[in-house]
Amino acid sequence: MMSMMLWSLLVSLLAYRNVSANELPSDKNVKGNSCNITGTWRNELGSTLRVKVEGSQITGVYETAVESTRGAAGRESKAKIIGVVGEGPQPTVSFAVMWEKGSCSAWVGQCFILPGDVRILKTFWLLRSAADNLSGNWGSTRLGEDLFFMT
Ligand SMILES: *[C@@H]1O[C@H](CO)[C@@H](O)[C@H](O)[C@H]1NC(C)=O
Ligand SMILES: *[C@@H]1O[C@H](CO)[C@@H](O)[C@H](O)[C@H]1NC(C)=O
Repeated sequence: MMSMMLWSLLVSLLAYRNVSANELPSDKNVKGNSCNITGTWRNELGSTLRVKVEGSQITGVYETAVESTRGAAGRESKAKIIGVVGEGPQPTVSFAVMWEKGSCSAWVGQCFILPGDVRILKTFWLLRSAADNLSGNWGSTRLGEDLFFMT
């Protein structure tokens, strides 16, 4: 299972590396294919994003492989996703989750189709932890980047 995951990640990374900046997919070379985000995605840390699109709405489940503190994401490290997706062949997306212990995360990004029909989701995220009071506000938000691959 693990080796299969690493293998598919490696294959995807190699496919990604072969694309130089000025060859990044544009509307022209996507050839009627659209970057459909329905399905199961996995990021560089092994977190899983299972989503379904209806119209412009995203629903699904996020299963995280990492937590800010032990147990922060709840017993099963899973949370419901809600979000929205744009139109066009490589749509932008925005989705959010509320974790069981009261922290929450939001991602924004875009779905890209790479040569060979490899789909990736490039995102930035914010994670908000609940502060006990206003003095704790300054250090309660984390920012990061996630790259998801369609599995
Ligand atoms: C996206 O993919 C899902 C599952 O593969 C499929 O049911 C759905 O029709 C696709 N949506 C579009 C717009 O192609
Ligand atoms: C705010 O919360 C922190 C962490 O729990 C605590 O140490 C601090 O005393 C609190 N400050 C105030 C003004 O209540």
